[in-house]
Amino acid sequence: MKRKVLLMGASGSGKTSMRSLIFSNNPASLTARLGATIDVEQNHVRFLGDLILNLWDCGGQDAFMDSYLTTQRSTIFQHVGVLIYVFDVETHEMHKDLDYYRDCLDGLRQFSPDAAVFLLVHKMDLVRDRAPAFERKKRELQEQSEKTPVTVFGTSIYDESLYRAWSNIVHTLIPNAAVLSKHLTMFAEACSATEVILFERTTFLVIATSAPPSAEASDPPDAASELDPARYERTSELIKAFKHSCSRVREEFHALEMELPEFTAVLDEMTKNTYVLIIVHDPTIETAALKLNVRMARRKFE
Ligand code: GTP
Repeated sequence: MKRKVLLMGASGSGKTSMRSLIFSNNPASLTARLGATIDVEQNHVRFLGDLILNLWDCGGQDAFMDSYLTTQRSTIFQHVGVLIYVFDVETHEMHKDLDYYRDCLDGLRQFSPDAAVFLLVHKMDLVRDRAPAFERKKRELQEQSEKTPVTVFGTSIYDESLYRAWSNIVHTLIPNAAVLSKHLTMFAEACSATEVILFERTTFLVIATSAPPSAEASDPPDAASELDPARYERTSELIKAFKHSCSRVREEFHALEMELPEFTAVLDEMTKNTYVLIIVHDPTIETAALKLNVRMARRKFE
């Protein structure tokens, strides 16, 4: 199954940077070397075996934008599954950006009316008061989108916010996400785990999680009620950084085990295209047992 993903936005807004971080495992510090994208750079990214993301990184210089909206209009906007439009939070040309954005929405309504639209207010690391600045931009963008439903995220390549946005985006493209989540919940119960998370292998984006453990008040306080809401995307970011360090010393990353006084974590290959992370708060459970469970569950998840 192939899904077309359009990545659009003004030149310099950060499209190629985020693509190289998420899909090529490059660190943020290398993005300053990226040149401007000429016309459209197409990439096929295999995601979960049979889902192929056909990523169109559309160079954002005016001459290219004008051509997408006129001569290339039908080629660009047909068969789109998802449009991701990137806005530089610090842009001095918001009017122009919005003109182009509205024109792109028109093209999308005309050729792919069912496409999902995600808007990224990017480079949020550059603003001081993030929350109010983001809310203001979000309102403005929602107004400009008129009747088209849009999902807006604040992102930066320097923290986990980029993973949060992209995990949400790819989640809408995964056909059997609910079934996966059900199986993970059963698996979590079998492991006496607090939580189980499934990551895609190359991007380390979150594919599915077990149902959040019930946060009922218990004595001692339930581990579940103390979980950090940003834990998934933080893990994606940390593991990607760790994988990058491994590649620098020419080692390949395979698996990870952590036994801390507070909890045990096992990260292991689940299928050809996924990794599973198991978090256990019961100190009597051995990592070897968890790994055995992963091995036995593999066939079910292939
Ligand atoms: P075109 O290819 O011309 O359309 O531009 P683009 O949207 O692909 O921009 P690109 O990814 O080349 O990024 C332009 C610059 O923005 C680079 O120098 C990046 O390092 C920088 N950049 C990207 N993301 C961020 C971010 O989150 N924060 C900050 N501060 N800078 C960023």
